[in-house]
Parts: sequence; C-alpha cells; structure tokens
Amino acid sequence: MAFRECRVAERVEWAPGLVTLTLDATLDPHEPGQFVNLALDLDGERVKRAYSLANAPGTPAQLYLVSVAGGRLSPRLAALAPGDPLLADPRPHGFFLPSDVPAPREVWLLATGTGLGPYLAMLRAGRLIEQHHAVVLVHSVREAAHLGHRAELEGLASTSARFRYVPIVTRAPAAGVLRGRMQTLLASGGLESRAGLTLAPERSHVMLCGNPAMLADVGEALAARGLVKHRRRSPGHVTTEAYW
Ligand SMILES: Cc1cc2nc3c(=O)[nH]c(=O)nc-3n(C[C@H](O)[C@H](O)[C@H](O)COP(=O)(O)OP(=O)(O)OC[C@H]3O[C@@H](n4cnc5c(N)ncnc54)[C@H](O)[C@@H]3O)c2cc1C
Ligand SMILES: NC(=O)c1ccc[n+]([C@@H]2O[C@H](COP(=O)([O-])OP(=O)(O)OC[C@H]3O[C@@H](n4cnc5c(N)ncnc54)[C@H](OP(=O)(O)O)[C@@H]3O)[C@@H](O)[C@H]2O)c1
Repeated sequence: MAFRECRVAERVEWAPGLVTLTLDATLDPHEPGQFVNLALDLDGERVKRAYSLANAPGTPAQLYLVSVAGGRLSPRLAALAPGDPLLADPRPHGFFLPSDVPAPREVWLLATGTGLGPYLAMLRAGRLIEQHHAVVLVHSVREAAHLGHRAELEGLASTSARFRYVPIVTRAPAAGVLRGRMQTLLASGGLESRAGLTLAPERSHVMLCGNPAMLADVGEALAARGLVKHRRRSPGHVTTEAYW
C-alpha cells in the first residue's frame, strides 16, 4: 500500500472515544460506501486498518470512528488532535455501493455504532435520495450520547420529505428515541411504524453495516420476511458490510 502522510484538520468528539476526524487531504476519487486504509507506525510496526469514508466525493476525507476497548490502532486514532500526523492510503476499496441497489426502491440503511460512516457519504452525495422513493436511516447505539451526526441527520430529515431518520438506543432510554435492538423492533412492528414504511421484498432494499452479529441476526429476520442477499448475478434485497 502506498501510504502518504496527512494531518488531522478537525476533530469532533461526540462522546469519550467516539470521534469524527476530518483530514487535511482529499484522497483518490471514491464512491460513497467505500473505505480506505489508515495507519500509524507503532513500536516500529506499521499498523493499518480499514475505515469507511464519511465525506461526499471530492471533499476532504472524513472518518467516523470509535476507540475499541483493547484495540491496537483505534484508541490511537481516536486520540489524535488537530495537526497530528497519520498515514492514509489514498486508494478507495469496497463494494458496499448504493449504485448497486436496483432503483427505485424504498432503501433502508441500517447501522450499528460507527457503521453510520458510509451512509453519511451516501446521504451527503445526494444521489441516493434523488433516485429512490424513500430512504430510511436506522442508527442503533447503546445510549443517546453515541448518536454522532444526529443534528445533521435530523436537519436532512426536516428538509427532505423522502428521507427519514430513526435513531435507536439499546441500553439507556432516551426521550423520543426507540428502544431495543433492530430485530426486536422489526418483530414488534415498531421500526416500520416509526419509519412510516413497510419492509417487503417487492418494495424494499436493505443495507446493513457495522457489528457482524447484527448483520447475522437482522439478516435472519429479513430472510424470514423474504428479503435475501443481493448479488450482482442474482439480485436480492440485502447488501452488507461487516466491520469485523
Ligand atoms: C470495510 C471496513 C470498514 C470499516 N470502517 C470503520 C469505520 O468507519 N469506523 C470504525 O470505527 N471502524 C471501522 N472499521 C473497523 C476498523 O477497521 C478496525 O477493526 C477497528 O477500528 C478496530 O481496530 P483496532 O486496531 O483498534 O482493534 P484490533 O486490535 O484490530 O482488535 C480489536 C478487535 O475488536 C473487534 N472490533 C473491531 N471493530 C470493532 C468495533 N467497532 N466495535 C467492537 N469491536 C470491534 C474485532 O473483533 C477486533 O479483532 C471498518 C472495518 C472494515 C472491515
Ligand atoms: N459507542 C461509543 O461511544 C464508545 C465510546 C468509547 C468506546 N467504545 C467501545 O467501542 C466498541 C464498540 O462499541 P459500540 O457501542 O460503538 O458498538 P456495538 O457494541 O456494536 O453496539 C452498537 C449497537 O449495536 C447493537 N448490537 C450489537 N449486537 C447486535 C446484534 N446482534 N443485533 C442487533 N444489534 C446489535 C448494540 O446493542 P446492545 O447495546 O444491545 O449490544 C448497540 O445498539 C466497544 O469496545 C466499546 O467499549 C464505544
């Protein structure tokens, strides 16, 4: 990988260890949904990991990341301050692409934690909302303080009739926010009711990003309702990106 040095231009801390970093660099052109590799040289070893680009194409690279307890790289990245250097491979990778979603549909973007990142890029680029009947973003976090970019997403929902933002908390209750894991809220009907849409194979496409246990559990719940994995050669209704 051809890493190049760049610096943190801006850092927003949403909760301790949960940050958005904007870099002072525009990387190679990417499609919303793609990721890049970031690295630091730690104890004489280059430690690199994948991070989804949260920025719209053509704008400075932005990453939404969390300090994973006991992790090698993420606690160091999350602690970087404006002006601090890091390494970025400018080449984007990945096939978690909204351009693969058959249009027009009702598109459900389901994220746990920092799995929100690629959806920020998709929503900021604008095309996804233009091309589909509706776009619903469901963001599941442990507590309301972990709802990074909430004001931006609420603002988008208030200006775009086709976009709905459905935050979910799973541990500490929060006023006006649904409580419970996504699959539980799917089973109860609470998620569809809050979104004002019904999930069904003939009208919906679902993207899932983040915790692999969520991908498995929600994937199973969707399969029971007839929504199956989407592949280029055999079109379906569910596209996934596992973070680990
Ligand atoms: C395609 C792709 C895109 C990604 N994009 C992002 C992103 O935009 N933002 C982001 O924060 N992370 C993202 N990740 C995860 C990231 O690459 C690292 O795995 C994460 O930052 C942990 O790295 P670490 O070196 O601190 O932990 P490690 O020392 O590598 O190990 C920690 C262990 O924790 C687990 N783990 C990894 N990520 C998490 C997590 N978020 N929560 C709980 N456990 C975890 C894994 O089992 C891993 O083996 C992405 C991963 C992939 C594959
Ligand atoms: N989030 C933060 O602000 C923060 C800050 C500092 C450090 N950390 C560290 O970062 C790591 C990741 O924490 P995280 O909270 O961002 O991510 P996470 O543990 O993946 O949790 C994010 C959301 O995913 C849900 N989820 C987990 N498994 C699921 C499943 N099988 N099906 C459906 N939903 C599921 C969680 O619900 P449940 O609550 O029910 O599990 C939660 O709502 C941890 O090591 C944590 O200690 C997090």
